[in-house]
Order: sequence, then structure tokens, then C-alpha cells
Amino acid sequence: MKYTRVPGVEDIYPDRIDLWNHIIETAKATAREYNFRQIITPIFEYTELFKRGIGDETDIVSKEMYTFEDRGGRNLTLRPEGTAAVVRAYCENGDYNRLSSCKLFYIGPMFRAERHQKGRYKQFNQFGIEFFGEDNPYYDFESISLMNTICKKLNICDYKILLNSIGCSKCRPEYINQLKKYYTNQKDKLCNDCQKRLDKNPLRLLDCKNENCIKLKNDAPKITNYICEDCKDHHETLKGYLDNSDVKYTEDAFLVRGLDYYCKTTFEFVTDKLGGQNAFSAGGRYNTLVENLGGSPTPAIGFAAGLERIYLMIESSMQKFKGIDAYIIHSGESTFEKAVEIANFLRKLGFSIDLEPGKKGFKSQFKKADREKSKYVIIIGEDELSKESCSVKDLESGKQELVSLNSLETFLNHIK
Ligand code: HAM
Repeated sequence: MKYTRVPGVEDIYPDRIDLWNHIIETAKATAREYNFRQIITPIFEYTELFKRGIGDETDIVSKEMYTFEDRGGRNLTLRPEGTAAVVRAYCENGDYNRLSSCKLFYIGPMFRAERHQKGRYKQFNQFGIEFFGEDNPYYDFESISLMNTICKKLNICDYKILLNSIGCSKCRPEYINQLKKYYTNQKDKLCNDCQKRLDKNPLRLLDCKNENCIKLKNDAPKITNYICEDCKDHHETLKGYLDNSDVKYTEDAFLVRGLDYYCKTTFEFVTDKLGGQNAFSAGGRYNTLVENLGGSPTPAIGFAAGLERIYLMIESSMQKFKGIDAYIIHSGESTFEKAVEIANFLRKLGFSIDLEPGKKGFKSQFKKADREKSKYVIIIGEDELSKESCSVKDLESGKQELVSLNSLETFLNHIK
């Protein structure tokens, strides 16, 4: 019986791992530059946390969660996103929630039972940040700017930042009334899903991908005409910060998000390089979630980026597997002993080195060096051994030199 992976999940093989790790290291380093510190939360939580946090009527909670009962009869769910879990951890630990503000980031797998396609998986990885403690729009700017910096460092170019304000609990109800009125008059033109959404979650109508629903959206009321003075000020100040920086954005009055906790700022980094999945990072402000999940009232903002989607966007432009620094070729026995000694010495200095035991022909060892994409080959045969030296061959230029073992470190440092 041959086993295969479950549809909708991916293996990341060694030839992709350098680029994968490069994305993670870039995201981590950028988060540190903005003084965010890493948090690791468990992969599963009580189901209730996500229901209450994300919203019962959202697609994530109503259709996509991996929920199970454990052996102790607890109702648990594999996390579909990071925010609710980080908020839970923040509320649970007074060392953090007593601080006037708190900056956290996370990286890890998330799980959603979505129909899979390119860029959309049942298990995927997010890098996310969450800022707790202030409603100041400066922090909305910092969040967007942080993600933009990651894009620049990774040489991602073909993207747009969509920006909106979806108001707050004071001004949004009137907008939703207007939206309902507009759509109720044309209910029969909506797709089946949207006819149901009209009562339960009318904002989601603006996010539907059905052709007819998209046409109807164009004339729908815009939230920008309904937000209160406080939300308007917040939005204008944020735009001022963005205008004074190098972060370009596009306003999109119909940008709503698939999670219920947002208020005021919402944003998405979108591209047309990913086929159907155009958002590779998204987030917004969520000023009431901490209180909803049992904490004291704490404004907050954050975003999460999909690492698989970022990978897909940059894989063609980046070198995938860089290979090792050197492969050591020997003729067995005493030359093998010397080869191991050299390997240990060079590995301690930080070079990536490989070699094989046994008595294999030079030709087959050269082939292996090639397969490992080695930059150099270090040859240690009987002749070299007697001269306390080795031959070093640059596999790209084909140039070969005899180097004494004493000066190997200096030689390799020089060519690195
Ligand atoms: P989200 O929009 O649901 O927001 O997901 C954020 C990002 O995760 C998406 O833009 C996408 O890149 C990636 N993503 C989502 N689902 C999938 C999937 N099935 N396959 C591959 N990638 C996917 C959140 O999760 C919020 N927690 C973001 C946030 C943080 N808001 C405030 N703080």
C-alpha cells in the first residue's frame, strides 16, 4: 500500500526549503526591527474561542473548521487563524496585558477545510503580528508599513495595498441598514449564498465573487459615506501617515473582511499573480475583540500574511536551493580519516560540507558533488595526503589548485 498526502496539504522538500526559510527569516527580522516579539501558541484551542472570536456566521466558523472531541470530551478546533489564539494568550498572562502596550508576532500552521486550489490549502502557514493597547492610527500605519517592508525586502513588486474603514459599532449599523435596503430590493438577482447572507451577515455580500453579485455591488451604498467623525478622523490620520511615507495604497470602499472582529481600518495586500487567490496578506483593527474574549477593553490591530502565497509570488525570481560550500572527495581508508577531520574542522567554521564513507570512485563522488550543487570540491587522495595538502576545485570555473591543509581555512574564507 502506497500512502499519499491528504489533498489540500503540501510537503516542502529540501529544494524549496532555502527560499521558504528566507521568507520566514525576513519576516522575523522585520518584526524585530519594529520591536515585535515572538509568541508561540498551541495549534488547537477550545472551539468556543474561535466561534466567539471570529463569529458564528463567518465561512471560517460555519464551514471550514477542523473540530473534534478529544479523549477527555473537550470540544477542540485546529486553529484556523492566529489572532483569536494570541488574544486568548494575551488575556491569560498578566505580565503582558498589564503593559501599556504589547507587540507580538507569530509564525505557524493554520487549518481551514477550504476547497483547495493554487495558493489555497487546508493546512497553510501564516506570519502575523498583533499590537495591543492603543487606538492611535499611528499603529495602523506601522502594521501596514511593516508588511510593506517585508515585500520590499523580498523583492515583491506586483502588488497593491487596498485600504478601507469599516466604521465602528456606533456608525456601522446604519450602513448595514442601508445595505440591506439596497439589496432587498434586488434579492432575486443575488446568488443563493448571498440571499442567505442578506439576513445573517450583509457585509459579506460585498465580498462575493459571483458575477451578478459583483455587478450589483458597483451601485451599492459605500461605507465611507456613513462612518462617524471618530472613524473618519482615524482614517484620515492614517492616510496622512501613509502619504508622508513611501507606502502607496488604493482606497477600496467595498473592502470587507471574512472575520467579524474588525472595526475602523481594514487592509489587504493583493496581487493578480496568484490566480483566484489575490490576497497574500490582510488585517485590520479589532478594538472590541480582547473584551469579547474576556479581557479588559483593549484596542488592537494586526495582520497575517500567507507564506505559501508569498512563496508562489517569488519562487520564479529567486534561486531555490543554493547548495553546499564544498564536497570532500577521498580514496578511502587513511584519506577518508583525513577527509572526516577536514569536514569537522570546516563545519565548525560554518562551512556547509558533505562527504561519503566507503571506497567509491572519484567519478561517482564528483557526480554526488554536482547533485548537491556544491561550489567547491576538496580532493584528498594518497598523493595530497603525503604532501599534507588537498586539491580544491571550483566547480563553476573548473579551476583547480593545490592548497596546504594549514592554509585551507584562509583559502576558503578568501573564496567564500
Ligand atoms: P485572513 O484574511 O483570513 O486573516 O488570512 C490572512 C492571510 O492568510 C490571507 O491573506 C492569505 O494570504 C492567507 N490564507 C488564508 N487562508 C488561506 C488558505 N486556505 N491557504 C493559503 N493561505 C491562506 C486572518 O487570518 C486574520 N487573523 C489576520 C489578522 C491578524 N487580522 C488582525 N490580525
